[in-house]
Amino acid sequence: MSAATQSTLSHTPVMLDEVVHALAVQPGGRYVDCTVGGGGHAEAILEAASPGGLLLGIDADPRALQAARSRLAPFADAVLLVEGNFRDVEAICRSHGFAPVHGILFDLGLSSLQLLDEARGFSFQLEAPLDMRFSPHQTLTAADIVNTYDEQALANLLWRYGQEPLSRRIARRIVQERPFHTTTQLAKTVEKAAGRRHHRLHPATRTFQSLRIAVNQELENLAAALEQSRDLLGYGGRLTVISFHSLEDSIVKNFLRQESRHCICPPDVPVCVCGHKPTLRLITRGAVKPSPAEVAANPRCRSARLRAAERL
Ligand SMILES: C[S@@+](CC[C@H](N)C(=O)[O-])C[C@H]1O[C@@H](n2cnc3c(N)ncnc32)[C@H](O)[C@@H]1O
Repeated sequence: MSAATQSTLSHTPVMLDEVVHALAVQPGGRYVDCTVGGGGHAEAILEAASPGGLLLGIDADPRALQAARSRLAPFADAVLLVEGNFRDVEAICRSHGFAPVHGILFDLGLSSLQLLDEARGFSFQLEAPLDMRFSPHQTLTAADIVNTYDEQALANLLWRYGQEPLSRRIARRIVQERPFHTTTQLAKTVEKAAGRRHHRLHPATRTFQSLRIAVNQELENLAAALEQSRDLLGYGGRLTVISFHSLEDSIVKNFLRQESRHCICPPDVPVCVCGHKPTLRLITRGAVKPSPAEVAANPRCRSARLRAAERL
């Protein structure tokens, strides 16, 4: 995608009203958007938080921050944009004197701008170098993984991060046919390994998802960031997370459940000995899904799941 095309495209923020509602955005509040992306959610939060509201937006991708900066220009005095990884959210916020806060948002995964950017290698449908890094400062790329991991390690990665039932077969074929330099080269090999399509998913979908998760250490970063977010919220502050696949949603669900429980003793312990105190109260019962109207207008949001909790 050329720079000109990119500037005319934008990422459609998902579940916008649900996010503002879950965060209970109030005028004068302080909010952290850990995945500011193109700034769509941030804009809605700032509108609802004015007058007097402030937002600190984080993104690992400098190009996303550029897009956010231009979208959020009308709120320039109320926004601080920081290039960084949300696994450092606590240090980032404290170093800017931005704690405690009224709300923290995670809208996980990647934006349409990143998916459609030919230079990034996130899509198996666009010819691109096998990169997949959110941040240019990361060293590991998808090419490093497919070209250097042994067959067993590749199969484990495809199974663990992609829940790919053909992980062994695909890993074997990758090792036979490497080195790989581009997305479409890899996608063709996966397609050959998978055989006939038996599913509405393209055969390379799970392989590409697992590589992206591994390159960006997405699950580890999310787990670390959730813990830190709990400690950044003031009393009554809201944590809201939108996830797009079951691996990240289970991390969020388990974290919120554990933090909202009075006791985390194993079920066979007759009397509580853990002394655990809940730090969060669940706001959503189960995960909230996008409305059918939103899915019809923006099919990309169909797998979105929103969970929210309030700091006790
Ligand atoms: C789905 S997009 C967010 C879109 C945004 N909510 C909007 O309305 O435009 C996710 C963003 O999170 C960023 N991201 C993913 N993992 C990150 C991490 N660990 N630290 C910082 N940013 C991350 C990506 O670069 C991407 O821009």
